[in-house]
Amino acid sequence: MELDGKVAVVTGSAAGIGKAIATALAREGASVAVADILGDMARETAGELASEGLSATAFAVDVSDPEQVEAMVRDVTEKLGQVDILVNDAGIGQSQSFLDMAAEEWDRVIAVNLKGSFLCSQAVARRMVGRGQGGRVISIVSTAAENARTDAAAYCASKAGLVQLTKVMALELGVHGVTVNAVGPGLTITGSPVRKPPTDAYRTAFVADVPFGRTGLPSDIAQTVAFLASAKAEFITGQVIYVDGGYSAGKYSVRE
Ligand SMILES: NC(=O)c1ccc[n+]([C@@H]2O[C@H](COP(=O)([O-])OP(=O)(O)OC[C@H]3O[C@@H](n4cnc5c(N)ncnc54)[C@H](O)[C@@H]3O)[C@@H](O)[C@H]2O)c1
Repeated sequence: MELDGKVAVVTGSAAGIGKAIATALAREGASVAVADILGDMARETAGELASEGLSATAFAVDVSDPEQVEAMVRDVTEKLGQVDILVNDAGIGQSQSFLDMAAEEWDRVIAVNLKGSFLCSQAVARRMVGRGQGGRVISIVSTAAENARTDAAAYCASKAGLVQLTKVMALELGVHGVTVNAVGPGLTITGSPVRKPPTDAYRTAFVADVPFGRTGLPSDIAQTVAFLASAKAEFITGQVIYVDGGYSAGKYSVRE
């Protein structure tokens, strides 16, 4: 298996895409830390993986809180030995027009999606550099990093910021053998109890711009993350891979 003996922290992995990523990495042999603000759900998810014979341990953390992040990474290191792979999946959406958005809403989205990824990456990367055996940091961004959407100013800005943070980290950490990449899902239906499902109108409008004519599956994203976490991807860094059926390649719905 590709990830035998590796330890992976996946934030936001109690549910949704993060849960699929945790499952994929564990099936490749990694010991996975299911790190989520919803501690009970994280324990349930870790229990489900364990019942499949996989190695998974739950950790409760709010990624936007520096002290909680440091404590979580310390705890993972003590319990599982080290961190070889970090996946920054924890993220929140939003739906407010730019004119109506309160400053508190802006702060809330940026705090989880951008600052949270910064905090987790820094806490993990410091240990990776100290250990001297390289590592992998993979952040889940979104097509919204490049394709602006109405009613999502903070979300789009947070994901665009995370793309640029990914590139800076890739430049600074390459010398230490740490690769840093981002994976950008298009609209992905997960059945997550945490995130409100998209309206039919939104889904139809989105899929009209997907040449493959469908929404994403959590496994589409998870397989890409598993590849970037593997030895096969050791020379790939500073990149964003959009896993979106061609949505971000252009305006498919606009034709003669
Ligand atoms: N589903 C999509 O269509 C889609 C599209 C593009 C990008 N994304 C991105 O993929 C990631 C996962 O999305 P999802 O659809 O699975 O969402 P989700 O809401 O189902 O799952 C997100 C998980 O993150 C956790 N979380 C939220 N805030 C947290 C915090 N402060 N600290 C720790 N954990 C926290 C939640 O409890 C939840 O388990 C997000 O970063 C999202 O922006 C999703």
